[in-house]
Amino acid sequence: MPYTPQLRELVKQVEASRAERIKKGPFRRMTMDERDEVLKNFHPDFIEASMRPLSVGVNKGDRVPHEFADLIEARSRIEGLGFDLENFAYDVDVLVVGGGGAGASAALIAQEQGADVLIVTKLRFGDANTVMAQGGIQAADKEGDSPAKHYLDVMGGGRFENVPELVSALTLDAPLALKWLEDLGAMFDKFPDGTMKSIHGGGTSRKRMHSARDYSGAEIMRTLRDEVRNRAIRVIEFCAAVELLLDEEGKVGGAVLYNMETGEYEIVRAKSVILAVGGSGRLEYQGFPTTNHYGATADGLVMGYRAGAELAFMHTMQYHPTGAAYPPQIIGLLITEKVRGLGAEPVNIDGEQFVYHLETRDVAAAAIIREIKERRKGIAVPGGMIGVWLDSPMIDLLYGAGTVARELPAMVRQFARFGVDIINEPMLVYPALHYQNGGLLIDENGLTNVQNLYAVGEVAGGIHGGNRLMGNSLLDIVVFGRRAGAHAGAAAKEIKVKKLSLNYLQAFQRELEAVGADTGGRVSPILLPRYTHRMTSA
Ligand code: FUM
Repeated sequence: MPYTPQLRELVKQVEASRAERIKKGPFRRMTMDERDEVLKNFHPDFIEASMRPLSVGVNKGDRVPHEFADLIEARSRIEGLGFDLENFAYDVDVLVVGGGGAGASAALIAQEQGADVLIVTKLRFGDANTVMAQGGIQAADKEGDSPAKHYLDVMGGGRFENVPELVSALTLDAPLALKWLEDLGAMFDKFPDGTMKSIHGGGTSRKRMHSARDYSGAEIMRTLRDEVRNRAIRVIEFCAAVELLLDEEGKVGGAVLYNMETGEYEIVRAKSVILAVGGSGRLEYQGFPTTNHYGATADGLVMGYRAGAELAFMHTMQYHPTGAAYPPQIIGLLITEKVRGLGAEPVNIDGEQFVYHLETRDVAAAAIIREIKERRKGIAVPGGMIGVWLDSPMIDLLYGAGTVARELPAMVRQFARFGVDIINEPMLVYPALHYQNGGLLIDENGLTNVQNLYAVGEVAGGIHGGNRLMGNSLLDIVVFGRRAGAHAGAAAKEIKVKKLSLNYLQAFQRELEAVGADTGGRVSPILLPRYTHRMTSA
């Protein structure tokens, strides 16, 4: 739906302020105190009532969002079903659960170690947040940059709460990860002389965001999926893992699989399990619209936690500052940070810029919410949202006609479908639930505290602290996918899986009963999202 006449009138205020904004130069960055203030008062993570302490398990007492706590305080979907745990449908070295970029990276490297690898994925191979990632992947591969500088940016972005060893691994491996993807055939944007193009993202001190236009994740997933297929690694689609299996020594030893098409359960025995199932954006915390893939339903967190894996940073979610607020058909759709990286500015109803365009995501999202809720300077749009402008036409003014069309072709097309021309008209945005900053706590090899259980990609926690920077997710799936694959693949030669059991699950359910947790008839993992009430920003 194109802009209404009323919205077109308001666009004139944005147009009118452009010359002055260009003359003034970049908007002032917030001081640390100002950042803390806006976060505390307006970031959704700081709404006390949105969380409650977990009543059971390793992280008992830790505050997490209600929607996630509800899944932990739920019955297992296999409760009451009898299984012959000696009757394996599959018996492999490495079971990779999840068919996104992290799972594919792990599978490729595990196979290179000589391991027999099986990938199971509840949707199709490649249906994951990876494929929806737009803006790019960070790596310090340019003169004037270094992994040390990248490290400092990641720590600063994460409010210095990140696990330092994980950030070291991430930033040191980044150039290698990028080269690996290129060697496999990923096509990143380059200058005519063959050097990589790179731009800033929010919170970066150097231009180290490498992209494939505005479909970087799709390009990376295409590359990885092709490679998995070329190497004939086994992939079973529409097959979800619903619980892990531990052996009598407490090591992970496989999983219970659920065939989404036939409704049948099967047992897989594995010397190690790599959870690469993504995050939980489809739980739509606090009713926020989400940029996330249909499969992001916290399955890995639930399975891992029941099996005894520790969680970290589950009190912090990432709200991407620029989810679409208009047209109503695409509310919550990701508007890549690359748009801001190229120079687009957040602007209020009066045509005033109110925040530096490249503040970190947590701060930018909180500033947008403040502009709307406290300062009352948002723009009410048909469909119930109130948004702010993201002034994309600034990009061509700053860098020359044709820049938006060249750098953001997917975004241009996406909006053109609804009659909005982002080359010449600003977009309307409101923060959307984008990423789970935390997850199952891992070490540098992606290992959780449960022996032989790995977590990679969004299901893992600790790397990004309290807030992830743009482009470090596409990076972490590759870095930790590769590390976990290498470790699990090599370890497989030594591992002996003992008698499998689900006793841990019964113990977990007994713990729930002992604390009188109200499971409310809930069953988890839910595997597919619920479509419930959605918030409006009004
Ligand atoms: O804005 C984006 O393109 C998203 C990238 C990311 O989450 O890393």
